[in-house]
Amino acid sequence: LQARLRGLGLDGHALAVQIDPGLPRSAIREARTADARRRREGTPPSVGIELALNDEARLGWTPEVLARRMGERAAGRHVVDACCGAGGNAIGFALSGCRVTAIERDAEIAELARMNASRYGVADRIEFMVGDALEHVPGLEADILFIDPPWGTDWDRQRTTAGALTPLLELLDLAEPFGEVWSKVPSSFDVGTLPGSWTVTPVFGEGPGDERRIKFLWLCRETATT
Ligand SMILES: C[S@@+](CC[C@H](N)C(=O)[O-])C[C@H]1O[C@@H](n2cnc3c(N)ncnc32)[C@H](O)[C@@H]1O
Repeated sequence: LQARLRGLGLDGHALAVQIDPGLPRSAIREARTADARRRREGTPPSVGIELALNDEARLGWTPEVLARRMGERAAGRHVVDACCGAGGNAIGFALSGCRVTAIERDAEIAELARMNASRYGVADRIEFMVGDALEHVPGLEADILFIDPPWGTDWDRQRTTAGALTPLLELLDLAEPFGEVWSKVPSSFDVGTLPGSWTVTPVFGEGPGDERRIKFLWLCRETATT
């Protein structure tokens, strides 16, 4: 615990463990090494499908098994995926029978998303738009607006705010025509920095090395009630 929790936060609060008497440094070092080894057996990005990814798209890719889990809750509805990356979530939604409008501003990553959708056999359920979501979303209506903003590599592990996850707040301003808004944010995200009240679901990994690790927070808000 001490090795794992040092420097981390949850929902905007720093986590701390106090052990009395304290552990020797060597024990903590050993635990870190064992943990890093176990982490290699984390949740696989896909199950039996070879993915088309570049370095940037790989960073944001939602593992298939977790994207499918989110997709099941959207079951059959129309989803606008405003920052679709290489398509991890868009594909998860489409696999659950959703119609998806997927927007990506980076043309190369959008092309990877198209390729991945074909590999999963769901290209006919996803309409891709290349460009800035802030320009495309105002013309769209759907049951769910899904926002998975880029976290970058150096997001604050103790406390991340809505303002740091561009274009999350800007897209929320455009959310009114959508029945629900969903987002995927780091575990250190301080939900209090968002307007409105949200249901927060921590999503754990599904591999032996990360089944007790929160991979991200899944936020949901019904637009009409806020
Ligand atoms: C975290 S990734 C999405 C990952 C995706 N959910 C998945 O599982 O593969 C975020 C993506 O949003 C894109 N993006 C950032 N700002 C955008 C904007 N204003 N409009 C459209 N796409 C944007 C980035 O290029 C990046 O590919």
